[in-house]
Amino acid sequence: MPLLDIRNLQLEFGTGKDALRAVDGVSFTIAEGETLCLVGESGCGKSVSALSIARLVPTPPARYVGGEILLNGRDVLKMDQRELRSIRGGVVSYIFQEPSASLNPVFRVGNQIKESLKLHRPQFATDEEVIRLLKLVGIPAPESRIRDYPHQMSGGMQQRIMIAMALASEPKLLVADEPTTALDVTIQAQILELLRELKQRLRMSILLITHNLGIVGDIADRVAVMYAGQIVELSPARALLQRPLHPYTQALMNSVPQLGHELDRLQAIPGNVPNLGQFPSGCRFHPRCPKAQSDCSQKAPELVEVEPGRWVRCPYWK
Ligand SMILES: Nc1ncnc2c1ncn2[C@@H]1O[C@H](COP(=O)(O)OP(=O)(O)OP(=O)(O)O)[C@@H](O)[C@H]1O
Ligand SMILES: [Mg+2]
Repeated sequence: MPLLDIRNLQLEFGTGKDALRAVDGVSFTIAEGETLCLVGESGCGKSVSALSIARLVPTPPARYVGGEILLNGRDVLKMDQRELRSIRGGVVSYIFQEPSASLNPVFRVGNQIKESLKLHRPQFATDEEVIRLLKLVGIPAPESRIRDYPHQMSGGMQQRIMIAMALASEPKLLVADEPTTALDVTIQAQILELLRELKQRLRMSILLITHNLGIVGDIADRVAVMYAGQIVELSPARALLQRPLHPYTQALMNSVPQLGHELDRLQAIPGNVPNLGQFPSGCRFHPRCPKAQSDCSQKAPELVEVEPGRWVRCPYWK
C-alpha cells in the first residue's frame, strides 16, 4: 500500500452553475521514501491539490465533489476534526515559499521549533532536540543560533528553520510547495541538496511542487505534470527528462534555462494558461499545442499508460 494514494480528486470553488473546477480528476500515489515532483504553470492546481492532502483548502469557498485521498489507507476526506489535527503537521508537514508565512517575527527561532515539538513530540521539546534539528538542516553553530530572531537570519537560513520546524514532528510525508522560488540560484541548489539528503537519511516521502522542470532531475523519483486542473503526464523522472512524451511537457522542457546556453534560446510556451472556467473544449492544451490535430478540439483525451509506468493524456504523443 502506498503512503499516499489520491484517486480521481475533484475540487470546485463556488457553487451551482458558477462552480469552477480547479482540480479535475487528479490521481497519483507516493510510496514510502519516494519523491514525487508536481510540475506545471501558475494556476494549474498544484497547491490546491497538495493542500488537499491534509484538507487545508478552506471549505467554503472550496468543495470536494469527488474522489479519495488515502493516507496510510485512511480517506482524509472522511476524517473528523480530531483525526485531521493529528495528521496536520504530524504525518504530513508543509513547507512554503515564504518563510514569513510560517515564522513568527517576534519569537526566537529556537522557541518556534520547540512549540512545534510540544505539539507533536512533547517528550522531545528540549534545547538538545532543537539543536539536533538545526544541525540536521545544516545551520552552523546551532547552539548560538537558537536565540536568534528570524530577521537576524538570511533567507536561506530562514528556509532551513522552516524545514527544521516541519521535521520536528517526524512526518512521513513532507510537502514542499515552491520552497526555493524566493531564493537565489545558489541557495536554491543548497536547499534542494538538503531535501535530498534528508529524504535519504529519514526515509521520508516528499511531494515537491515547482514550475521549473529544471530542478526535478536532482531529486525526483517520479514527476507528475499538471495542466488546467489535470495531470497530463506521469512518469519516472529520468525517463521523462530524457524523453518527455506529452507536447506540454516538451514545451515545459524547452522553457527550462540551460546552463551555459544563451538566454535567448529560452522558449516561452506560446499562448496563455486558460482561466478557470474557461477551459477550451476537447484537450485543454490544444490551442497552444504545436502538434494539435483537427479532432483535438472535440475529444477530451484520457490519461493512458503508453509504456510501463508512463502515463500520457494525448493520443498523438508518438
Ligand atoms: N480560495 C480560492 N478561491 C477561488 N479560487 C481559487 C482559490 N484558491 C485557488 N483558486 C484557483 O484554483 C486554481 C488553482 O490554484 P493553485 O493555487 O492550486 O495553482 P498553482 O498551480 O499552485 O499555481 P502557482 O504556480 O501560481 O502557485 C487557480 O485558478 C486559482 O485561481
Ligand atoms: Mg501554488
